[in-house]
Amino acid sequence: RKEEALFLFQTGKFKQALKINSIMKIPYFIIIMFLCPLALVGQEINLLPEPWKVEKKEGVFTLSVSTSIQYPSELKECVEIFNKHLSERYGFSLKKGSRRNGIRLIVDKNMKRETYNLLVETNGVMIRGSESGVFYGLQTLQQLISETENKLLIPEVKIEDRPRFKYRGVLIDVARYYQTPEFLKKYIDVMAHYKLNVLHLHLTEDAGWRIEIKKYPELTRKGAWRPSTQVGQTPTEQDNLPHGGFYTQKEIRDIIQYANERQITIIPEIDMPGHMMAALSVFPELSCTGGPFSIPLEWGVKEHILCAGNEKVFDFIKDVLTEVIELFPSEYIHLGGDEAPKKQWKVCTKCQNRIKEEHLKDEHELQSYFIQRVETFVNSKGKRIIGWDEILEGGLAPDATIMSWRGEKGGIAAANLGHDVIMAPTDYFYLDYYQSDDRANEPSSAHWGATVDLEKTYSFNPLPSKISADKQKHVIGVQACVWGEKVQLERDVEYMSFPRALALAEIAWTPQEKRNYADFCQRVAACLSYLDWKEVTFRIPEALSDVEINAGKAIISLQSSVKGADIYYTTDGTSPWTYGKLFTSPVTLPLTFNGIDFRYTIVLPSGRSSAVYKLQRK
Ligand code: ACM
Ligand code: ZN
Repeated sequence: RKEEALFLFQTGKFKQALKINSIMKIPYFIIIMFLCPLALVGQEINLLPEPWKVEKKEGVFTLSVSTSIQYPSELKECVEIFNKHLSERYGFSLKKGSRRNGIRLIVDKNMKRETYNLLVETNGVMIRGSESGVFYGLQTLQQLISETENKLLIPEVKIEDRPRFKYRGVLIDVARYYQTPEFLKKYIDVMAHYKLNVLHLHLTEDAGWRIEIKKYPELTRKGAWRPSTQVGQTPTEQDNLPHGGFYTQKEIRDIIQYANERQITIIPEIDMPGHMMAALSVFPELSCTGGPFSIPLEWGVKEHILCAGNEKVFDFIKDVLTEVIELFPSEYIHLGGDEAPKKQWKVCTKCQNRIKEEHLKDEHELQSYFIQRVETFVNSKGKRIIGWDEILEGGLAPDATIMSWRGEKGGIAAANLGHDVIMAPTDYFYLDYYQSDDRANEPSSAHWGATVDLEKTYSFNPLPSKISADKQKHVIGVQACVWGEKVQLERDVEYMSFPRALALAEIAWTPQEKRNYADFCQRVAACLSYLDWKEVTFRIPEALSDVEINAGKAIISLQSSVKGADIYYTTDGTSPWTYGKLFTSPVTLPLTFNGIDFRYTIVLPSGRSSAVYKLQRK
């Protein structure tokens, strides 16, 4: 279909070599869909992720204060969350009861986890599913509500739904920059709305230790604070501002419970043996050299890591993990394992002795020894480990699940060895990468070289053919990672996360054959108006645009990428933020020698504006 779109570009009215920045990546057929008023007739269904099976009917159900909701006691919290949404968004909530024309929720113990059926008819709504399934049915119902002429309408529909993958995650790097529990809860709300179910917290780093460990209070008393942070591209560009913070165990329990009520598991990561400078600044004796160290104020991989030849290191790790395992109900504990340089291990007597005693070949096998020893401990507590794909080097721990970040290679190798895999390749799912090639328009929170735009993220297929058919089941899911070197403020985390995390949500949930980027973009427009209401500072995508060249004139049509947003434009090179005219119908411009200079900004219902985007002749 992409080829078809390209063909239209090359042979149709775009022949005039008018290069449109934002249009080139948008397949032609979306534009048609957006500009066709027929597509907007009737009650729209804009679900994200797209369910497994949707059968739309003609009628509507009207939701109102007098609608009752009937449910078994185990769904009490689930209904409270649904009611909280209704009351925040529409100003009322539903009373328990079994009146006619109400909503009925049924827990079916025979249905699989996260599976539900939803039936909306003119005279009632029914959701039947497993407990987590009913929760997701209510998320779907929330997305189906539309406000029309002061009424809340839900289209008649029959939905059968279940997830493609059991692991649908996002990582937030709270170690590089601390984020508050309140912010994490807001983020959890949004994740749940899109049926994401794992929040991976990167809790420890060179730059800071963020989880209270009762046995070692110094870890957070000292290790959670730094006096300054690199803010530019070079280490000497410092903000000279203290930064820090950590989660008490009480706060952690509270976040876990909040997430659990929303079907989200929090997976803690204690990164080892590398990325440990915050801990080594407190306990330098756990390094190969003995230090002393301070928390590094600049970014980058550090050569000082935990000493693999020192028994005290394993005691320390066991103490820390004992408290972590007690706190987190998650089946998995993430041990990191990434970016651990072997430079110090090569010259450390203790590490070299360990290599001899354990008959290891080299430092890679020493890392393997390290991770396997910790895995044995984690397994003895009834939990399983996840590690970044570096833990493949030197031999995999027997039960480890691999998180494949350096492309898909690690994931493919691990799955073919019979290990479970979570795909999190940088090129698709590292949400600290740029979202657009128009670098000047992106905030400083976007800072790495590659561009991972929405379409790129969406294009990922988690089941590469290099994983043999009988091993494909080992890919248990996907994860997006919001790394934090430059992502300090809440609005930065939100900007980098959305809308790309919506693409991840659909990859994780919707069957591959039902995924379609054009259709996805249309649904994103509806989702973004929800996120705007929720005060999430997402990146506002470029408008969908169409330029027709006719008799020396360009006729420009635009469609907002966010439902309910306005577009303001200028044609003389001035800023649309100041001088913009409201776009209401196609604009005709003469094609002068310098081409057209059409600039616009998208203004959301909340009042927030996008960057200035341009349509221009190359
Ligand atoms: C990683 O990005 N170092 C896992
Ligand atoms: Zn050592």
